[in-house]
Amino acid sequence: MKFFLDSAMIDEISHALEMWDIDGVTTNPRHVQVSGKPFLVAVREIGELFTGTNKTVSVQTNPNNHDNYRAIVDEAEALAAMNDSFIIKMPCTEAGFKACKILSDQAIRCNLTLCFSVMQALQAMRMGAYYVSPFIGWKESNAEETRHFIDEIVAVRNNYDFQTEVLVAAVRNGRQIVEAAVAGADIVTAGFAVYEEAFKHPYTDVGLGKFQEFWDATPYDEQVSTVS
Ligand code: E4P
Repeated sequence: MKFFLDSAMIDEISHALEMWDIDGVTTNPRHVQVSGKPFLVAVREIGELFTGTNKTVSVQTNPNNHDNYRAIVDEAEALAAMNDSFIIKMPCTEAGFKACKILSDQAIRCNLTLCFSVMQALQAMRMGAYYVSPFIGWKESNAEETRHFIDEIVAVRNNYDFQTEVLVAAVRNGRQIVEAAVAGADIVTAGFAVYEEAFKHPYTDVGLGKFQEFWDATPYDEQVSTVS
């Protein structure tokens, strides 16, 4: 299973690449705004970290064009030309799906974002999406169940051998990562703090304290006398 970092912060991405070997990055307008940089500067800098790798960076098109497939296609073509690692994000709208079909036919890889139903995921797959991103955190905030949701998306993908990878997004904790893995999702994307927390366990720290005490109370080897 692939782990993507949901961030536009260079320090977070660099740490996650070096220490966690993350497989890619997803960005969205909120992440770019938090980075404090103009959109193109932010995505260009992130792209430089991935040049020459087979990892991907998902870059979102202007959400104001959600109903204008021509505008989405034009922007996507320009973004895709900037860096080979870029996957272009567009929303699960009628225009987004249509843009995805046009772009996929030109071998430009698309990530269909803001996916909240199995039906939207199925249409994304039919239109050639490279990734489809069901947002489980947002659904759970809306009191909707998500385990069955991901199970069904994965089942539909497998039933018809679609090539689309299921990218479980807006992940809030390690349990959700495990559930996505059990469901057979291909990828999860989560924020820096989610992974940082999920990789730890309090018993690991308790156990280390105990083992350190025993270690320190035990000679490392036989005592060798230096007196002749
Ligand atoms: C995924 O591609 C999105 O960027 C992301 O998961 C959105 O959710 P969040 O910003 O609420 O975590």
